[in-house]
Amino acid sequence: MARVALVTGGTRGIGAAISRALKASGYKVAASYAGNDAAAEKFKAETGIAVYKWDVSSFDACVEGVKKVEAEVGPVDVLVNNAGITKDGAFHKMSPEQWNAVIGTNLGSLFNMSRQVIEGMRGRKFGRIINISSINGQKGQFGQVNYSAAKAGEIGFTKALALENAKAGVTVNAICPGYINTEMVQAVPKDVLEKAILPLIPIGRLGEPEEIARAVVFLAADEAGAITGSTLSVNGGQYMV
Ligand SMILES: NC(=O)c1ccc[n+]([C@@H]2O[C@H](COP(=O)([O-])OP(=O)(O)OC[C@H]3O[C@@H](n4cnc5c(N)ncnc54)[C@H](OP(=O)(O)O)[C@@H]3O)[C@@H](O)[C@H]2O)c1
Repeated sequence: MARVALVTGGTRGIGAAISRALKASGYKVAASYAGNDAAAEKFKAETGIAVYKWDVSSFDACVEGVKKVEAEVGPVDVLVNNAGITKDGAFHKMSPEQWNAVIGTNLGSLFNMSRQVIEGMRGRKFGRIINISSINGQKGQFGQVNYSAAKAGEIGFTKALALENAKAGVTVNAICPGYINTEMVQAVPKDVLEKAILPLIPIGRLGEPEEIARAVVFLAADEAGAITGSTLSVNGGQYMV
């Protein structure tokens, strides 16, 4: 029986590449999204992957959303917590809204989503939870106190949850992408990208969403059962820990 994978924010950007790669590897995939119906419908038409709309920063919405996915696709074996947002600004000008939205969507969602699937995974003695953190959670980033805090929090969450569930056959890992060639990064002015960003990346180019997806497929495999609590950097050598 094919394993079931649920990818939050799985209809666009890195998440879409993860959803596609998991499907290509034989998983039954469900992809969630927040509100961009047009992108989700286009993704569904292209891939045949089921899409579901709810807000991962809401615990109650996650209860209902995961219930629907499990009823329609099956019990979740692999959860990829990928949904994320930025609301950048210098900390001395940051609003509570900027702080709460970024913490709630990037970090709160890990509790809201993982809590829905962990008991089932433990009961079935198999599970994979893969959290998409960021290089900026490892090293900090100017203008991103909220985002860096959330992404660093994801790494702590990963380690503690990995410890609690190691004996139950559930692994929990984090992936820290560097600069990835997505809409978010394509929006950076070309000269800023070429003069200020690319020189910092030893491989001399942006990462591709498919390279993050490759890491997810690796960690999701049955054969990856001894890898837990780890943080896998996929950043072209930009930051080594
Ligand atoms: N791009 C990079 O260079 C980079 C680098 C390091 C880490 N990351 C991390 O990688 C992940 C994916 O980034 P990306 O660049 O691919 O982002 P993206 O292109 O902006 O896509 C984000 C996805 O998350 C969904 N989403 C956002 N808020 C949500 C919410 N409250 N509830 C449910 N879904 C929500 C979006 O849904 P809609 O389509 O409905 O908006 C979309 O599907 C994020 O966690 C990000 O922090 C990205």
